[in-house]
Amino acid sequence: MKNVAVIGAGTMGNGIAHTFAQSGFRVQLIDINDSALKKGMDTITKNLDRMLGKGTITEEQKSETLSNITTFTNITEGVEYASLVVEAATENIDLKLNIFKQLDEACPEGTILASNTSSISITQIASVTSRPDHVIGMHFMNPVPIMKLVEIIRGYNTSDEVTKLIMDLSKTLGKIPVEVNDYPGFVANRILMPMLNESIETLYNGVAGVHEIDTVMKLGMAHPMGPLQLADFIGLDVCLSILNVMYDGFKNPKYAPCPLLVNMVRAGKLGVKSGEGFYDYSESKKAEKIAKQFL
Ligand SMILES: NC(=O)c1ccc[n+]([C@@H]2O[C@H](COP(=O)([O-])OP(=O)(O)OC[C@H]3O[C@@H](n4cnc5c(N)ncnc54)[C@H](O)[C@@H]3O)[C@@H](O)[C@H]2O)c1
Repeated sequence: MKNVAVIGAGTMGNGIAHTFAQSGFRVQLIDINDSALKKGMDTITKNLDRMLGKGTITEEQKSETLSNITTFTNITEGVEYASLVVEAATENIDLKLNIFKQLDEACPEGTILASNTSSISITQIASVTSRPDHVIGMHFMNPVPIMKLVEIIRGYNTSDEVTKLIMDLSKTLGKIPVEVNDYPGFVANRILMPMLNESIETLYNGVAGVHEIDTVMKLGMAHPMGPLQLADFIGLDVCLSILNVMYDGFKNPKYAPCPLLVNMVRAGKLGVKSGEGFYDYSESKKAEKIAKQFL
């Protein structure tokens, strides 16, 4: 497996492209327009520079990584030679079903189609393709170049062979894969999102302020980052989509998104990527400083 196509150059897609490229894969990075691709490539360059500054990579590794990535705005052209496609587009079911229909038509027979979805059913995504045994969840964590875990989600029809191949591939990227079954939120978000939602509810109820809630969880529970800041990093729109998938999937009110989260997303306050969420990231230096703690 030499060619890997990545769909989406946003928060996760650029990290996934970076990680494959740094491990020597040829990466075709695909997004809907040139400005999204430019933003993604700028982030990869900035993250590589940070690694260079810390001495974890050499100048040669940086330029090799960048030269392994080619960008496309056309899915059909981008996936032509791919043995694996990792889809990391916006967390929206209709959008993903549409992308997987296109991928099934455009990709060579035998190409494995993976989704980085945080919560959408892999079985449902696979059902719109003619190769459900070759569809799998490859759920990387944010920031991808740093975080070790990849949650590998087996859809109802995913074959043993494809699961083993993707587990082994994740190890060659220096990651630790964990195999889980396909139920809403899988394992990571089924446990994480109710905690983030409860933190937002605590703020909404006026029990404490943003800084106080995050400090309690950081110092009291030894979490490296407060839950409200983590929600900002994940993206409040992504958190809302995941909660809605679990709410619909389990028909259980405990997953109902807090009205404050719904309002903030409606108001365009999406966290780090929009410049403001529970914290203000409008001065780029502030966001850089926070990001530096993790990269
Ligand atoms: N943000 C996180 O912490 C996180 C963690 C794990 C998994 N995920 C999952 O990763 C996926 C991407 O999330 P994100 O946070 O990177 O979102 P994002 O909003 O940062 O980026 C999404 C990108 O997808 C692109 N896109 C939309 N439609 C497209 C199409 N038809 N073809 C190609 N590109 C398209 C957008 O232009 C954008 O650049 C989602 O499924 C999300 O649930 C997110």
